[in-house]
Amino acid sequence: MDKNLFRQVMGHFATGVTIVSAPTPEGAHGLTVNALSSVSLDPPIVLVCIEHDRYSHQLIRQAGCFAVNVLNEKQRHWAERFSGLHAEEARFEGIRYRREATGAAVFDEALAYLDCHVVAAHPAGDHTIFVGQVEAAGLGPAGRPLLFYGGRYLPLIETPAEEAKDLRGEDYP
Ligand SMILES: Cc1cc2nc3c(=O)[nH]c(=O)nc-3n(C[C@H](O)[C@H](O)[C@H](O)COP(=O)(O)O)c2cc1C
Repeated sequence: MDKNLFRQVMGHFATGVTIVSAPTPEGAHGLTVNALSSVSLDPPIVLVCIEHDRYSHQLIRQAGCFAVNVLNEKQRHWAERFSGLHAEEARFEGIRYRREATGAAVFDEALAYLDCHVVAAHPAGDHTIFVGQVEAAGLGPAGRPLLFYGGRYLPLIETPAEEAKDLRGEDYP
């Protein structure tokens, strides 16, 4: 299987963009993740896929927990920062966050969040599938999601009829 073709094919699957955080002895660490899926409703379970050699992989394994912070369209610079694009930048600078159930960082300004403890970890190629049971979840300030498609960040474009309200029936800010 040609790797470039595989990448191109998967690039046609549009996703949201999240920052997955894990607690460290000093505070918090995080990385940009789009490999997120809902798995089970009862109990609520999600999965994230994290590359083996990433620092975050080690931290999630050690801590046994992670939080998923869903980004809005105005938080693209966070996605860039947490994927190491600006390696010199401190990832958490200027980001307000708190701890909920597990101790992983939950961003005050995230569109939505999930706070999970790891119930299984399955090796899969160069990634590990971390399966997390959701201990806390919630919504942040209303907004439009940040999307990722074809290797690019994109805003959500809606038809005029849908435009006026967000998922919660609130006006977009
Ligand atoms: C849009 C986007 C999505 C990404 N999704 C993932 C992912 O699902 N899993 C993963 O391991 N890395 C993913 N990455 C790459 C990590 O964010 C990047 O390697 C990061 O620098 C790892 O940080 P760490 O080594 O400090 O843990 C993604 C990057 C981008 C830009």
